[in-house]
Amino acid sequence: MQVAVVTGAGSGIGREVAAVLLADGWRVIAISRNPESLEQLRKEFSKSRRIETLTGDFSSDELAKDASTRLVARFGKLDAVVAALSSHSADVRLRILDTPSTQLRAAFDTNFFTHVAAAKALIPALAKGGVYVGINGGLADFVIPGMGHISMTQSALNSFYKTIAQEALDEHSTNAAQVRALCLYGLVTSERDPARVNEGQLTDEAIGRRVADILRRPDAYPQPIQAIKARKYA
Ligand SMILES: NC(=O)c1ccc[n+]([C@@H]2O[C@H](COP(=O)([O-])OP(=O)(O)OC[C@H]3O[C@@H](n4cnc5c(N)ncnc54)[C@H](OP(=O)(O)O)[C@@H]3O)[C@@H](O)[C@H]2O)c1
Repeated sequence: MQVAVVTGAGSGIGREVAAVLLADGWRVIAISRNPESLEQLRKEFSKSRRIETLTGDFSSDELAKDASTRLVARFGKLDAVVAALSSHSADVRLRILDTPSTQLRAAFDTNFFTHVAAAKALIPALAKGGVYVGINGGLADFVIPGMGHISMTQSALNSFYKTIAQEALDEHSTNAAQVRALCLYGLVTSERDPARVNEGQLTDEAIGRRVADILRRPDAYPQPIQAIKARKYA
């Protein structure tokens, strides 16, 4: 049975990706910093018998390496990783020119360097030809007033994912991992909210299904930066 790790699985998009991968037959290892979220997830999906949980923090290289070491010790090499990592603490409107650099650095710490730490620790834990998908946002491509800092972290993330997609296949790589970023254009709702679905918003179920397809058929998605768009951006 193939093993997929989902970081950020305790809430939001990561949680729904974990649900779709379980339904798709994967053995899913859900990672969160919060043991209570993991316990809830385990209860909710207990019927599948394919859910495993692990506490893990990707806020530094050391913590990420520790999570990766515990993962491989318990589950062996991984077939897939999905990195859904961000913090609502960065979701504030601000003017870059009026904002202390310390606050901007904090946004990079939570929304950019967590992805860096996770990829450095988890890509080497993939089996040969394993697939790594990082979840990013469509603000990588444009700026809306007050959200420039999110555009900055997301555009940096796209460059990061393009870079590591190349490095994962270069002569130094030991496992020829396939790396993709999936950029989400627009706010995300759930299929349980038909009014917003009818407005054309993205749903976390659709995102989960796209991630599952990329993991199954990475060759069908050859570019490192992939996108899924709400109707108004399509
Ligand atoms: N929601 C949207 O409308 C939307 C739209 C466009 C793009 N996106 C993108 O989608 C991705 C996921 O967003 P979301 O809305 O699902 O956010 P969310 O609900 O805040 O989930 C983010 C997850 O990141 C995890 N996380 C954050 N820092 C971590 C750390 N240091 N170590 C381990 N885990 C950490 C959290 O896990 P724990 O707290 O459980 O540890 C949390 O489950 C982000 O890249 C975001 O930019 C979202």
